[in-house]
Amino acid sequence: DKKTSESIKRISQHLLKKPNGKVIFLVGAGISTSCGIPDFRTPGTGLYDNLAKLNLPFAEAVFDIDYFSENPKPFYTLAKELYPGNFEPSKFHYLLRLFQDKDRLQRVYTQNIDTLERSAGIKDEYIIEAHGSFAKNHCIECKKEYPLKVFKDKMLEGKEYARCKCKGLIKPNIVFFGENLPPKFFNSWEDDLDDMNEDHLVVVAGTSLAVYPFASLPIEVPSSVRRALINLEVVGDFKINPRKSDVVLECAIDEAAEQLARELGWNEELEKLIMD
Ligand code: OAD
Repeated sequence: DKKTSESIKRISQHLLKKPNGKVIFLVGAGISTSCGIPDFRTPGTGLYDNLAKLNLPFAEAVFDIDYFSENPKPFYTLAKELYPGNFEPSKFHYLLRLFQDKDRLQRVYTQNIDTLERSAGIKDEYIIEAHGSFAKNHCIECKKEYPLKVFKDKMLEGKEYARCKCKGLIKPNIVFFGENLPPKFFNSWEDDLDDMNEDHLVVVAGTSLAVYPFASLPIEVPSSVRRALINLEVVGDFKINPRKSDVVLECAIDEAAEQLARELGWNEELEKLIMD
């Protein structure tokens, strides 16, 4: 619609006028729903509405460290469904890749554990997996590290749980409620904040901004730096403390990717990346 195309124009104007300005993306589950991965909080289709079969005391218990230590079964069931490998990146993921290829990417802070940023070819140095991933595993008691295989084999068997020599449960380094985010998340954000100037752009996409500390990142963006939101609904600080300079795109993520690529004259390259 008209409002969307106006917002797209505002973003592309910013990017074209400030050719040295880099972009920081803050993303969540909404950038992967078009890949067939459900998000968490969309009523009806979101994961938390569809966990009845797991008999949880409350939906978020599936990612709660205390609950897991008593009953790892629900997480195992869900992990099997969410396990990366069966999904292809979205148009939006490939747009992020284009920002990298054009040297316009500062960082992608992702709450997602699907590793589709990596699948789209974004390099490790640009990616901050704020809520961890399946790649590394550790014992929740003695903290000993284990290779992925130990967890993965048990998950696929679906009978027993991966256990440490000390008998503690082994769990992927996905950040559960009650656990800290990786130090890299905080260090990198501090560095990026130091670097930020009015040429930069912070794009928040596909997240409800319901989970802290991630949800505080847009709040911390200096007022001299422009923020944009691409999401089906207006959320978080964009709703509570909107800034005059904010650009808000209330639309589907891939539609935004397509329109933005067109405005920037990047659409052929984007299509090529998707085809290859
Ligand atoms: P949510 O499910 O909370 O929010 C997803 C947001 O994306 C919602 O606002 C949707 O409206 C929007 N959305 C969905 N599909 C979209 C599309 N095609 N185009 C545009 N917007 C779309 O997911 P997150 O914010 O990522 O943590 O959730 C944050 C954290 O909560 C997750 O990392 C997870 C969860 O508990 C852990 O597992 C530790």
